[in-house]
Amino acid sequence: MTQAVGIEAMGVAVPSTYLELEALAAARGVPPGKYVEGLGTRRMAVPQPGDDTVTLAARAGRMALGAAGVDPGGVGMLVVGTETAVDHAKPASSYVQGLLGIGRRCRVFETKHACYGGTAALQLALDWVRSGSARGQKALIVCSDVARYGLGSAGEPTQGAGAVALLVSDSPRLVALDAGLSGVWSNDVHDFWRPLYSKDALVDGHYSVRCYLDALAGAYGHYKELAGAPGVPFFSERFAALAYHVPYAKMAKKAHRHLRAVDGDPEPDASFERLVGPSLALPSQVGNLYTGSLYLALASLLATAPRPLDGARIGLFSYGSGSCAEFFSGTVNPGAQARVRALGLEAMLAARTALSIAEYEEVMRAREAHDERPAVEAPPDDYRFLGVREHRRSYVAPAP
Ligand code: HMG
Repeated sequence: MTQAVGIEAMGVAVPSTYLELEALAAARGVPPGKYVEGLGTRRMAVPQPGDDTVTLAARAGRMALGAAGVDPGGVGMLVVGTETAVDHAKPASSYVQGLLGIGRRCRVFETKHACYGGTAALQLALDWVRSGSARGQKALIVCSDVARYGLGSAGEPTQGAGAVALLVSDSPRLVALDAGLSGVWSNDVHDFWRPLYSKDALVDGHYSVRCYLDALAGAYGHYKELAGAPGVPFFSERFAALAYHVPYAKMAKKAHRHLRAVDGDPEPDASFERLVGPSLALPSQVGNLYTGSLYLALASLLATAPRPLDGARIGLFSYGSGSCAEFFSGTVNPGAQARVRALGLEAMLAARTALSIAEYEEVMRAREAHDERPAVEAPPDDYRFLGVREHRRSYVAPAP
């Protein structure tokens, strides 16, 4: 029997402020239904100037290590998957290493492929542990991003920010991921990108939706072939739940409809609430996390599913524009739901502060000058970006 490898613990970080999408719709002269029902998102996270890809990653990483009771010295691989890096050369993971006190005998690097970057790192870490090269060490994979489009653009209501950390090991107390059973699909497309000279992402929005759905059909078809059941109808009933990449909650609905249609289901929406609903409870309050979106959906599924998932098989779909996609699967370990509920993620979201439109727009404009900002007041209990001095970014970590 092959050794079980997968996710031992998770951590999630979101900014402490958010914008109600109804308020954004009113400010942009759009019916609120377009954002709330049309996109399926109620709130989007808005980071303050002292928060960035690094601070969010450090916070999520600390939560994952703390949840597992793992000493930072036990981490032999630290990867940050991000498409909103803070430097062209120095990886966000090096800052995170310093902030979390992770030891020197550790591989530390950053991965990028739009929203797929975190999944690339996760798959690498799984194979590192499975191969035996890890020699009992754990990998900390952190998916962290600030999703940003231009003010007033069509992408504006699909912003968000946050990080999800995954501790990967041979003690997968949350989800054991299937080895060698992963359908992939990639294609050179220009659906979403961010030129080196721009802080805002550019997107061919409706085309990006088609690219996502094509990639889903490709990756899922590959998965079914690997599972030895290419033409089996209602194949997705093998899963007790599914989690998709969630740029906005409605996209997961479109994805599920497409997947069921590929399965030959004449009523492709009928299984949506049962199989996908719980995975959207948290994402619909945060918006797009880019690399972390799929994993926030997974956290949401484990934290909010109304039924026990012990021993259940789940399917996961990761999509990164550009594009690369992967459909993979795993088994929920007994006790996983209680462990994720104990993280208090719903309470964490409920404790955030709502911004007015004026405050949101000020934060967005301030972010233009973000790198040059002088030090902000740093709360003693959190990670904070303090600004750039002599071309070096500086951060502060909470006292141990
Ligand atoms: P849009 O053109 O402003 O919106 O852009 P729309 O006209 O398509 O309307 C959206 C939905 O609202 C539609 O529903 C309307 O019918 C509905 P649908 O037909 O899609 O089911 N609607 C209403 N519903 C209720 N009441 C109303 C009402 N009015 C309209 N009154 C778009 C939408 C998503 C394209 C835009 O926001 C955008 O460009 N977003 C960014 C791109 C994106 O998120 N793409 C997703 C796939 S690509 C991906 O996931 C990768 C990504 O995460 C990046 C990465 O990989 O790094 C983005």
